[in-house]
Amino acid sequence: MSNSNKGVLITGASSGFGAAIAKALATQGYHVFGTARSPRAAPSDGYTTLALDVTRDDSVRACIGEVIRAAGRMDAVINNAGIGIAGAIEDTTSEDAQAQFDPISSACTASAGRPCLTCARSARVRSST
Ligand SMILES: NC(=O)c1ccc[n+]([C@@H]2O[C@H](COP(=O)([O-])OP(=O)(O)OC[C@H]3O[C@@H](n4cnc5c(N)ncnc54)[C@H](OP(=O)(O)O)[C@@H]3O)[C@@H](O)[C@H]2O)c1
Repeated sequence: MSNSNKGVLITGASSGFGAAIAKALATQGYHVFGTARSPRAAPSDGYTTLALDVTRDDSVRACIGEVIRAAGRMDAVINNAGIGIAGAIEDTTSEDAQAQFDPISSACTASAGRPCLTCARSARVRSST
C-alpha cells in the first residue's frame, strides 16, 4: 500500500516536534492530519489541520470522526500534544503543573481511535509526552 493511502493523526502539530513530524510525513506522501486547539484557517504545509483538545473526550471523538470521514482509515496516532514548563518548581503554580499533566494523563486519543487502528493491519501508536 502506498503512503498516500495511510492516514496519520498527529496531536499538537501547530508548532515544535508535532509540526516538524507532520511536515516530514506529508513530504513522504502520508495523508497527515495535524491538530491544534485553535487551528489556523490558512492551509498548512501539505497536511490537514483539525481542531483537537486532547483533554476533552468530545473533542477527541469529533477529531477522529473527521479523520475517518476524510481518509477512510487511520493507520497511526502520534500522541505529541502537551506543554512543557521550564523553571524552578517553587515558581510553578498548581494550575500550571496540572495543565502539564492533563494532556499526558489523557491517553484518550489512542484509545478512542482503537477501533479504527485495529482495522489497519499495521497500525502504530507513538507518544512523545
Ligand atoms: N521540547 C522538549 O525538550 C521536550 C522534551 C520532552 C518532552 N517534550 C514533549 O514533546 C511534546 C512536543 O514538545 P514541543 O517542544 O514540540 O512543544 P510545543 O512546540 O509547545 O508544541 C506543543 C503542541 O501541543 C499542543 N497542545 C498543548 N496542549 C494541548 C491540548 N490540551 N490539546 C491539544 N493540543 C495541545 C499545542 O497546540 P496548541 O497550543 O496550538 O493547541 C502545540 O501544537 C510535548 O508534549 C512536550 O511535553 C518536549
